[in-house]
Amino acid sequence: MLSDQDRIFTNLYGMHERTLAGARKRGHWDGTAGIIGKGRDWVIDQMKASGLRGRGGAGFPTGLKWSFMPKESDGRPAYLVVNADESEPGTCKDREIMRHDPHTLIEGCLIASFAMNAHACYIYIRGEYIREREALQAAIDEAYDAGLLGRNAAGSGWDFDLYLHHGAGAYICGEETALLESLEGKKGMPRMKPPFPAGAGLYGCPTTVNNVESIAVVPTILRRGPEWFAGFGRPNNAGTKVFAVSGHVNNPCVVEEEMSISFEELIDRHCGGIRGGWDNLKAVIPGGSSVPLLPGSVMREGIMDFDWLKEQRSGLGTAAVIVMDQSTDIIKAIWRLSKFYKHESCGQCTPCREGTGWMMRVMDRLVKGDAEPAEIDMLLDVTKQVEGHTICALGDAAAWPIQGLIRHFRDEIEDRIKHKRTGRVSAVAAE
Ligand code: NAI
Ligand code: SF4
Repeated sequence: MLSDQDRIFTNLYGMHERTLAGARKRGHWDGTAGIIGKGRDWVIDQMKASGLRGRGGAGFPTGLKWSFMPKESDGRPAYLVVNADESEPGTCKDREIMRHDPHTLIEGCLIASFAMNAHACYIYIRGEYIREREALQAAIDEAYDAGLLGRNAAGSGWDFDLYLHHGAGAYICGEETALLESLEGKKGMPRMKPPFPAGAGLYGCPTTVNNVESIAVVPTILRRGPEWFAGFGRPNNAGTKVFAVSGHVNNPCVVEEEMSISFEELIDRHCGGIRGGWDNLKAVIPGGSSVPLLPGSVMREGIMDFDWLKEQRSGLGTAAVIVMDQSTDIIKAIWRLSKFYKHESCGQCTPCREGTGWMMRVMDRLVKGDAEPAEIDMLLDVTKQVEGHTICALGDAAAWPIQGLIRHFRDEIEDRIKHKRTGRVSAVAAE
């Protein structure tokens, strides 16, 4: 359980000033030049020791990712790119950081860029985040005016420019290589990996792409020490974490908590419990729409971290916790996600372009119960043909929620087919 003093994001709810003066009162921009003065290797070693794993969804170790960047310049500039294209359904944690605590992100950009030999950083913000872009741009302007960005940024001796780039509302531009394509002014279509961005990223130059939260926690980790951060959570699941809880809880919220907090504690302490009580819990998507749902009975024993959720064949993902009570039409919920992924596929590779359409059309019928029982296994088979056979993770993301549905709620699908339920359900499918 995290105490108030241990929170990194002290203004998530916008109760305090988000201005530079307000941020300074909360401890941001304190001793930044001194941190940079300790050198690149020191910063990267500290980040490795902290155990921070990327907060965008994949959980790749942040310090290790930074260490892939060339130590010496080979003539090409290096870049840091912050992925603020937060579009995973259910996910709204970075939004709160950018609109209420922008200075910790900006300070993190400076320190992380220095550690990776980058004199420029781009923040790519989601198209729909207009107010957040305005808040962030105002904070960037303030930081320039105060000498915290630009020549000799924050008195560190490091010249550093920070640019904010507004996306146009395509989910796929949150995939890191599609984001780079988009930033270069091209259509946002993912690239094959490898090469990973550290080898050939923005404009073919060494680049690291990190999530907003991953960068925003950096200054506090370096000020308080990696042991402090590593002291939270279980081994391999270190730190504090911002969760976004939505759905059938009494008080949906975005909250920073200790990694590995139990699901029950997270919900009871911060969300006022499940709507209608714990017995009314049906299912939970624990990490944004790309990870498989889990039944309520499993989640009641749940630990909110990478490893425990992976053991359950789900994932922490973006830590967007979507809670569904017994009133939920679970087939319809997953059908809606299928529709989303079909819409957002960039169409570049066949299994995803064709497979998302196939999966959605079968889901259309399952929602109505208007299908043959054999179609359940056929659908499962299609998900396996898509999973792992595409250029980017969107193919997996489209397949996994359906696999989770069939794994845990097959009875419900079979029951609907058997009884050919219509009523509310058929009205939905006709939307
Ligand atoms: P990934 O596992 O391919 O890569 C994660 C990061 O580690 C990337 O930056 C990648 O370049 C780096 N990396 C991985 N292996 C590497 C290697 N061998 N050498 C060098 N670098 C390496 O995952 P990906 O596709 O970047 O992200 C998938 C996740 O994104 C999903 O799990 C999902 O939860 C999340 N997601 C988040 C969204 C959001 O709104 N925040 C939206 C959609 C998905
Ligand atoms: Fe595009 Fe889908 Fe292929 Fe990703 S998996 S590159 S979204 S077609």
